[in-house]
Amino acid sequence: MNNDILKTLYSEQDIADACQRLGAEIQAEYKDRVPVAIGVLRGAVFFMADVLRNADTYMETDFIDVSSYHGGLASSGTIDLVTDISTDISGREVLLIEDIVDTGRTLKYLIDLLKQRGASDVKVCTLLDKPSGRVVEATSDFVGFVVPNEFVVGYGLDYKEQYRNLPYVGVLKPEIYSTN
Ligand code: PRP
Repeated sequence: MNNDILKTLYSEQDIADACQRLGAEIQAEYKDRVPVAIGVLRGAVFFMADVLRNADTYMETDFIDVSSYHGGLASSGTIDLVTDISTDISGREVLLIEDIVDTGRTLKYLIDLLKQRGASDVKVCTLLDKPSGRVVEATSDFVGFVVPNEFVVGYGLDYKEQYRNLPYVGVLKPEIYSTN
């Protein structure tokens, strides 16, 4: 799997440092309150586990599974709600955990959905923010790295559902796209 990677963008150490910084920011933000942290499947699993273990504050956790890339390179433009949360978030503060914000469509869909359901506040923590990909407005409160306009994999991010278990974030060799 490592042989398919052209270059590393964020190393394991870079990611660990970012999780520590973001965890401290989350801890400070939610001091004395109990938010519901919602991980956006499947990409956010690795990041969520690491960042939230760096936040020494009370919270609940849940997951929501939405998909728009269907394993490919480009957003399909429509968001499918695959599996919903089971927490009643009416009147609750929500912290969405994402691996990447690209077009912004997923985030906008989720924020609208959670607010419709009565969340009193929705904040966003994302490992990666790619502002150059934006199609709809979407801003995050806690950002690990601002990424260049490249298709990235690893640490939760996939190409055709693979590479999520790489411990770092990198760019695939072009031949991987052309031959698969
Ligand atoms: C990816 C990623 C984000 C979303 C960001 O999910 O995990 O949720 O796309 O892209 P956007 O800003 O253009 O909407 P994907 O639909 O690939 O599902 P996955 O997490 O299961 O890979």
